[in-house]
Amino acid sequence: MNTEHLKLFLDTFDDISYIDKGSLENYSHDETEDLRFLPHVVVKPSTVEEISAIMRFCNSHGIYVTPAGARTGLSGGALPVRGGVLLSMEKFNRILSIDEDNLQVITEPGVITQVLQDTVREKGLFYPPDPASKGSCFIGGNVSENSGGPKAVKYGVTADYVLNLEVVLASGEVIWTGANVLKNATGYNLTQLLVGSEGTLGVITKIVLKLIPHPKADLLMLVPFYDAAKACEAVAQIFNAGITPSGLEFMERDALTWTLKHFPDITIDVKENHAAHLLIEVDGFDLNQLFEECEKITAVLENFETDEILFAESHAQKDQLWTIRRKVGEAVKAYSIYKEEDTVVPRYRLPQLLVGVKEIGKKYGIQSVCYGHAGDGNLHVNIIKGKLTDQQWTEDLPKAITEIFELTVSLGGTLSGEHGIGYVQKQFMPIAFSEVHLELMRNIKKVFDPKGILNPDKIF
Ligand code: LAC
Ligand code: ZN
Repeated sequence: MNTEHLKLFLDTFDDISYIDKGSLENYSHDETEDLRFLPHVVVKPSTVEEISAIMRFCNSHGIYVTPAGARTGLSGGALPVRGGVLLSMEKFNRILSIDEDNLQVITEPGVITQVLQDTVREKGLFYPPDPASKGSCFIGGNVSENSGGPKAVKYGVTADYVLNLEVVLASGEVIWTGANVLKNATGYNLTQLLVGSEGTLGVITKIVLKLIPHPKADLLMLVPFYDAAKACEAVAQIFNAGITPSGLEFMERDALTWTLKHFPDITIDVKENHAAHLLIEVDGFDLNQLFEECEKITAVLENFETDEILFAESHAQKDQLWTIRRKVGEAVKAYSIYKEEDTVVPRYRLPQLLVGVKEIGKKYGIQSVCYGHAGDGNLHVNIIKGKLTDQQWTEDLPKAITEIFELTVSLGGTLSGEHGIGYVQKQFMPIAFSEVHLELMRNIKKVFDPKGILNPDKIF
């Protein structure tokens, strides 16, 4: 790549490009395993016009551009795998307007998700999607990956809130994908095509999101099970009893105990025979109704062998339980080299998925730690390297993952519920899609980005 030409071009802007070693290294990774790829240059624009000019230049010179948010992703979506320009959206960090009449917010993509949530909450409004990294991830990354999180089970994922997007195309042209309306039957739905497109179709520069009134109360309980598959079985029964919890999370024993080690101030009495826990939250506007819902849930749980249920008694205790749940991923990462899968199946199939994953693990001598959004049938399967040799890890792991994904698809599920395909899952796409289907997707990419400069080597 002729970087001299690019650098001369970037020098025409004030203070937006960086090629020092520290910057290049800093932007060479996201949170995906231990993968690192150096970009040639890191660019931090602050206006749509700058991005448009950069895209025009890169498109005409065939220079790769990888858009990046807070780089908390887990599938390598923001990795500049072919070098080129790493386009950081961090200066797009303003919430532009909150429309209290229509319950909408217009935001730039570089706003931290929790900041957005807290800001609209001050007006009594709720933006529910809450990935585990909500305290550091950007809303633009959430849109690009169609992030979920614990609240998705009741409130839906990011896609369910995106009404309209301003996008800079690979050519440098700028479009709005839709309109700021709740219903839209006007042509192809480019808004939803861009959601989850992982930075491969355009650079998102403004986002219009739907908001809802913020619930007034919630109740939270932690339920220990002696049998992990039974915990998964209980999940569908809770919904069948007419309850839609605002969180229904599953943690295998190791997920919980490994995380607890990082939080010595938080005590949860995990007994030897506790195989897994469900963390169940209900929320709403009427506390009495929530107590009734909890009673219905406990009635369902009586059909299962559980140990004593812990009801969170204070805000502080609720925070502690959610902190533990949100930090499982980090705790696993700290424990061992690992590979993370984001399987999702119809909720009722979850017990079969869990049992099957463990059987595949046994076959290959591979340990896994499973946790995730059980209410959505979304199981994060973290495969642990532990004491496996490098050879076992490189030879057996792809075979085991292939079997896990084949099982997932045979149960009516698919490869990723919320982390995306990005760089690390793309080799498994043929398990979920026929060649005809994949070719349709590749052709969509070509329409948006004929020269293939935007976030290369992702998804396909
Ligand atoms: C979680 C992330 C890893 O659920 O999706 O913790
Ligand atoms: Zn998750």
